[in-house]
Amino acid sequence: MRLTTERGVRFVLKPLVFLASLGPAAWLVWAALTGNLSANPLSDLTNETGVWTLRFLCITLAISPLRKLTGWNAAIRFRRMTGLFAFFYATLHFLTYVIVDRFASLDFPNGIVIFAASTMRNLAASVWEDIYKRPFITVGFTALVTLVPLALTSTAGMIRRLGGRRWNRLHKLVYATGVLGVVHYWWLVKADVRRPLIYGIVVGTLLALRLYWATQRAAARAPAARRVPAP
Ligand code: HEM
Repeated sequence: MRLTTERGVRFVLKPLVFLASLGPAAWLVWAALTGNLSANPLSDLTNETGVWTLRFLCITLAISPLRKLTGWNAAIRFRRMTGLFAFFYATLHFLTYVIVDRFASLDFPNGIVIFAASTMRNLAASVWEDIYKRPFITVGFTALVTLVPLALTSTAGMIRRLGGRRWNRLHKLVYATGVLGVVHYWWLVKADVRRPLIYGIVVGTLLALRLYWATQRAAARAPAARRVPAP
């Protein structure tokens, strides 16, 4: 079976990409359980899930350009999966932040009761205050919020219900997610901006390519009447 055929994509490539995408999460669980993270394992969990969110966003943004440049139309069949993995890692990232950063900073004068209503209230207030106070958290949270409608409308039923045009317009929000993800990263590193700069160049190039093609399409669609007739 050739991998690039319909059956190859469906029965071989997609399951492989799915398993490979779970790899980072599986590795993190394994490393955490076997003590293979650094001296600060909790911060490793936050950072690794953050970086994988950004990587999946970059992969998702790269799929249309890849299809256009190589002519391999089946590439588009992976976009929903990689986008949902971006959301999956972003959710893990947010949850690790809530537990590692916010839950750990709560006071428990009467001993820890994890699922008590008061604990949940204090936790929500602490997260909200942090989103309000620390700009890089504000930007990261906004990036996560932009992913929610994309994940909710990722099913075939929702595409039908919204209609292709509206669905496409809504899903352009992922461009903002990519930019916000880079800004969030840039803002949180203290001195060495090399890594966020690399992601910035990747996201910037992918968005610039889309802008270039969109301008070309618009020019091609311009009515013939507006074109200057040849003398
Ligand atoms: C699409 C959404 C997001 C992306 C792409 C993203 C990406 C990243 C990246 C790349 C890092 C740095 C990893 C490293 O240094 O190796 C990071 C760290 C971090 N992010 Fe996010 N993030 C997102 C959402 C959020 C949200 C919603 C929160 C919390 C509300 C958050 C809180 C943090 C924190 C606390 C750190 C660690 C900062 C430190 O090392 O001091 N992020 N994130």
